[in-house]
Amino acid sequence: MWSSSAVARNTAVLLTISLLQLARGSPVVKSGVINYSFPDDFIFGVSTAAYQIEGGWNEGGKGESMWDTFLHEHPTFTVDHSNGDVAADSYHHYMEDIEMIKKLGVQSYRMSISWTRILPNGTDNNINQEGVKYYRTLFEELVKANITPVVTLYHWDMPTPFMKLGGWTNAKVIDYFEDYARVAFRLYGDLVKMWLTVNEPHEGCLSGYGQATLAPAMNSHGLGIYLCTHNNLLAHARVYRMYEKEFKPLQKGKVSLPFESAWAEPHDPNKADDVEAAENYLQMHLGMFAHPIFSEEGDYPRVVREKIDNMSRLQGYSRSRLPYFTDEEVKALRGSADFFSLNHYTALSNTPSAMESYFKVPSLHQDTGVRILVYPSWPKPFIRWQYLYPQGFRKLVNWLQNKYKILKEIPIIITENGFADFGGIEDYDRVDYYNDFLYQLLLAIHEDGCNVKGYFAWSLMDDFEWIDGYKHKFGLYSVDFNSPNRTRTPKLSAYNYANIVRTRRIDFDYIKRPEGLNTIALK
Ligand code: NOJ
Repeated sequence: MWSSSAVARNTAVLLTISLLQLARGSPVVKSGVINYSFPDDFIFGVSTAAYQIEGGWNEGGKGESMWDTFLHEHPTFTVDHSNGDVAADSYHHYMEDIEMIKKLGVQSYRMSISWTRILPNGTDNNINQEGVKYYRTLFEELVKANITPVVTLYHWDMPTPFMKLGGWTNAKVIDYFEDYARVAFRLYGDLVKMWLTVNEPHEGCLSGYGQATLAPAMNSHGLGIYLCTHNNLLAHARVYRMYEKEFKPLQKGKVSLPFESAWAEPHDPNKADDVEAAENYLQMHLGMFAHPIFSEEGDYPRVVREKIDNMSRLQGYSRSRLPYFTDEEVKALRGSADFFSLNHYTALSNTPSAMESYFKVPSLHQDTGVRILVYPSWPKPFIRWQYLYPQGFRKLVNWLQNKYKILKEIPIIITENGFADFGGIEDYDRVDYYNDFLYQLLLAIHEDGCNVKGYFAWSLMDDFEWIDGYKHKFGLYSVDFNSPNRTRTPKLSAYNYANIVRTRRIDFDYIKRPEGLNTIALK
């Protein structure tokens, strides 16, 4: 945590904060806002991912991942022609990262292992001891600092040799992912008790395999996307069951996988068709992944199965573009998560539409058959895909809680939520974002009885934002990407988040927006 003296040593911005801290009493709340607090067993954390912060792309014996290779071969893929070769250089600055996490006062740190840092070719016949040591030291230091590591095995950085063999469209890659996971559990399972298998399979498969907005930019919109989906789910189940059998009895950890979802609002909530369109959107984008694991009956949701099977038939395919699970696979998937890991950023609205001119044929969008809209009243501050509708967060959590009975027994943990801007440490908009979204989470917990037990802000620091390079920033800490030391500086949102973590309440007046500085008017 920041001491007031450390704060006072800093700039004028920080002086403002220290004054605010001195003035701290019971949190002030906006009118009409109830002063709920986060329960004692609620965990706070921050998230990052290896390729986005680590750098050291060819140091210490690391092999190439698909992002290394892809961006070296296609340097103009990112908006600023940048890549993650150095990123925030956490490979060399991880001790500073830990200090930053300590200052926030959070109990947990979600990060990912770069598969090719410990297995340079992706396969377990060659284990890179320098890479092994890097993560071992990092986990040891985190644990020493009382910070629980939450570790993602795969945050989109597929080893290049497997990418050349089709990546997740190749079902054999599941075997090698299992081998890698086993090595990671064996090496780190004494220190790491929370594991995430595949980050955001929906986003990874849609944007990377179904479109060309993430590597490998396969653009296989109606086919590759579903092979990737299917194999990601099977890879998760395989690793979950392997951990359960070989490691859980001794290591006693928990395993899940993070799903990403926007909230889908019926464009006109009074129209039954719009309500159905929004439900279909959620089933095709979230249910497709969550239902096989969290529903009682397992497998893909009926509506997903029907839509893709029917459309495939109409298009003359003799088999569905979405593969079928065997009975054993359905069984292995059902119940294969110890908590529900949810990433959430934005909202959209839906109305029916069988066919839009911009839908590719075949594609997930065409199979879904709904038009994607937004309300003009939802602010869209900076990045092209982020619309701000904090109430959608509460609605999404309720949707899950109502849909999957198991969530009464196992908790929902928000493993990512955050706000993109163009940078700067006086990030009043990000402060508002966290206050408003966390407030909706409090309402979901206290007024709706949702079983949400944790929240990880994305992100600890500014990082490499995939196709958006370094143009958009998500960090609680700013990183100076022009300085060789990648100097890190806390933003106002870092102080605000630390205050929420410390008081377990939201004080909407903790950071005061200067007179005359417009708010982006979150509704
Ligand atoms: C989700 C992804 O997991 C993360 O890598 C990305 O930076 C954030 N969304 C923001 O786009």
